[in-house]
Amino acid sequence: MRDQIVAGNWKMNNDQHETQTLLTELKNHNKPENVRVMVAPAFTQLSQSVSLLADDAITVAAQNMNAAASGAYTGEVSSSMLKGVGVKTVILGHSERRSLYHENNASLADKVNSALEAEMEIIFCFGEQLEERKSNRHFDVVKAQLSEALFSLPTSAWSQIVLAYEPVWAIGTGETASPAQAQEMHAFIRKLIQDQYNETLAQEVAILYGGSVKPGNAQEIFSMEDVDGGLIGGASLNANDFMAIVNAF
Ligand code: PGA
Repeated sequence: MRDQIVAGNWKMNNDQHETQTLLTELKNHNKPENVRVMVAPAFTQLSQSVSLLADDAITVAAQNMNAAASGAYTGEVSSSMLKGVGVKTVILGHSERRSLYHENNASLADKVNSALEAEMEIIFCFGEQLEERKSNRHFDVVKAQLSEALFSLPTSAWSQIVLAYEPVWAIGTGETASPAQAQEMHAFIRKLIQDQYNETLAQEVAILYGGSVKPGNAQEIFSMEDVDGGLIGGASLNANDFMAIVNAF
């Protein structure tokens, strides 16, 4: 059976005090055994979060990393720095990284390779813009994002990869893809992996949905056959909302 995963992408929210408060609240909730729960705080709060969650089932992910091992990259953080503070998972390719910081399929392929070499788990984000969906190009866009960044990888690399389909028009907008739209795209993604690799691998890869997932819509989205969980932005900043989503399977 595939992993069921709910990951909270905190983005540039939660300073040291807020992190302490939110993680303490999250620790007080019971966690279902069949769901992997992660939070992705800012770089400055990773070490604190790993320590606070040492005795909890929630694990810590980073929101980004640089492809290089070290060197003259002002403001950047490497995989070994993340691993050094106990972080073993990294989110790559979030649409905000793509649009605001010019990440693209080629630069993301480098980051993916670097994270794989460091034996990190990757939550790889991708998804179409509103105009691309309106002009019925969403399947082509998603296919290009996956094939350019991931489809040169050997089959063995995929045990370290979780996919997160996040239609850009649904991120932070309150507008969610309908469960049917999410299922349609997730099934398409699984078929792409089957065609590129094989059916066993296609059935094993966890595919998360992201974009305005809330306590009120999580259950319906997670009930779709090819949806294995969610990448949660806004609602992950509130402990009760986030745990309601975690318990929505
Ligand atoms: P949202 O963000 O849940 O606030 O829409 C999702 C994301 O950016 O991963």
